[in-house]
Amino acid sequence: MIITVAAFKGGVGKSTTALHLATYLQNTADTLLVDGDLNRSALDWSNRGCLPFKVADEKQGILLAKLYEHIVIDTPARPDPDELKAIAEGCDLLVIPTTPDAIALAATLQMVDALKQLKTNYRILLTLIPPNPNKAGEEARAALLKADLPVFKSGIRRLAVFQRAALEGVPVNAVKDPYAQIAWRCYAEAGKEIVENSKFKIQNSKTSS
Ligand SMILES: Nc1ncnc2c1ncn2[C@@H]1O[C@H](COP(=O)(O)OP(=O)(O)O)[C@@H](O)[C@H]1O
Ligand SMILES: [Mg+2]
Repeated sequence: MIITVAAFKGGVGKSTTALHLATYLQNTADTLLVDGDLNRSALDWSNRGCLPFKVADEKQGILLAKLYEHIVIDTPARPDPDELKAIAEGCDLLVIPTTPDAIALAATLQMVDALKQLKTNYRILLTLIPPNPNKAGEEARAALLKADLPVFKSGIRRLAVFQRAALEGVPVNAVKDPYAQIAWRCYAEAGKEIVENSKFKIQNSKTSS
C-alpha cells in the first residue's frame, strides 16, 4: 500500500502524520517512510533519535520501494498542479491533514477541488484539534461532512507531547509522558481505519471480479 500525505498548507501536521502512520503500519508489515520534503523533517526526526521503520529520501526511496510492503510518502506544502497530479496518481490513498481553522479548511477545499478531475482516493484528517471547551474540531468535521467529503473518524488532538516526540526523534508512543498514549491512540485509530478500508476494498474487488 502506498500512502501519501499532502496538503496545500504548511504546518498542518503532514510530517507528524506521515511518521505516525508509518509507525502504525510497521506493526503490520515492513514499512518505508519516504521524505519527499526538501526540509527533510522526517529524516531529521530519525537522525535525532530512533524510529521503528526505515526512512529514505526520494532517490533512495525509488531503489528501496520494492523491498517494503507499505510506503508512506511525506511531501512539501503547496504542490503545483503537475506535482499534485503525480502525487494523486502515485498512491493508493492520499491523506490530507488539516487543522480546524478557516484558512487551513479553505486550503483543503481548494485541494479537494483540484483533485476532482484526478479521481483520487483521498481522506481528510483533522489535526492539531484544540482541547475542550473549544469546538473548532467538531465544527470543522461537521462542515466537511456536510460538504460530503471523506473524513477520518479519528481526529488528532493538539498535544505538546507531539513536539517532545519530534525533539527526541521518536514516535509519540515512545515518549515518557502521561499524554503519550492518548496522543498515540489518535494516530493508531487513523491507521486502523486505513488498514480496515484497504481490506474492504480488496474484498470488494475480489467479489466483483
Ligand atoms: N497534534 C499535534 N499537537 C501538537 N503539536 C503538533 C501536532 N502535530 C504537529 N505538531 C507540531 O506542529 C508543527 C508542524 O507540524 P509538521 O508535522 O511539521 O507539519 P507540516 O509537515 O505540515 O509542516 C511541528 O512543530 C509539530 O511538532
Ligand atoms: Mg513537513
